Amino acid sequence: MNVVVTDAVDDAGLARLRQAGHDVETVVDAERGELLEAVAGAHAVIVRSETTVDAELLDAAPELVIVGRAGVGVDNVDVEAATDRGVVVANAPESNVRATAEHTVAMAFATARKIPQGHMQLKDGYWAKSDILGSEFNGKTLGVVGLGRIGQEVAKRLGNLEMDLVAYDPYLSEERARQLGVELVADIETCFRQADFVSLHTPKTAETEQIVDEDLLAELEDGYLINCARGGLVDEAALAEAVEDEILYGAAVDVFEEEPVEPDNPLLGVDDVIVTPHIAASTESAKQNVSISIAEQVIAAFEGNVVSNA
Ligand code: MLT
Repeated sequence: MNVVVTDAVDDAGLARLRQAGHDVETVVDAERGELLEAVAGAHAVIVRSETTVDAELLDAAPELVIVGRAGVGVDNVDVEAATDRGVVVANAPESNVRATAEHTVAMAFATARKIPQGHMQLKDGYWAKSDILGSEFNGKTLGVVGLGRIGQEVAKRLGNLEMDLVAYDPYLSEERARQLGVELVADIETCFRQADFVSLHTPKTAETEQIVDEDLLAELEDGYLINCARGGLVDEAALAEAVEDEILYGAAVDVFEEEPVEPDNPLLGVDDVIVTPHIAASTESAKQNVSISIAEQVIAAFEGNVVSNA
């Protein structure tokens, strides 16, 4: 069978596909036209977050059996269009949970203690000791929006810093929240109002797109927003303004509405918005894990077996 890989995916899983007898072609950073040509004979397409798998791409690949998303979020795949065409969509929901949770914690520390700002100033030759004032975590409240796999790991880790934990997650039971030591709140406004730090861990869907707007940010007064989930969850101009106007102390952002980010993105111009280029899941082991997990599912689909994360 033909497997076309259209984003950078670790070789561990691709080697497994080859061992299973499949042809694997990698077409990374291709122009759209080249991409559509490349998938013409594909039985599987493997993507990360860069490739948009829409109806046009699906139509260009009439032999397609499965789209493998080497990662968690499937917002770059039109799942409905795939399903209409009988194409399975599978992801790798567990493989990069730890990496993403750890990066979220790193971003929380970095924004609370202004580590990138101090680093930049010192590298520029300026000793900023008396300009930089950070915040501690102990005794503060962490608000988690979306208490799924990653949200739970973040709550566990930051909870160890003697933080109180609240969460907004309409899909989680009160009992499970209690087990996790988290107070479940009824709406996202309450979560933002009660928290000093809010961390987003919800997928991007029609319901959650731009869910964090100017009004919600005002509820987090003197707090910090951390987004290592999806860019489209946040009104970026409103966040930039809220930090610039000192309504928020700071924000840490790994994901953006448009990626790669354009130089005129408003978040890039605000000192106390710290940024990374969508690298929360970019550890050696997470990359290997997602690659192997998605390869196994592609092989299962080719062999007519159950695709566990479809
Ligand atoms: C994911 O959805 O798994 C992460 O955003 C990482 C990625 O694949 O880019």
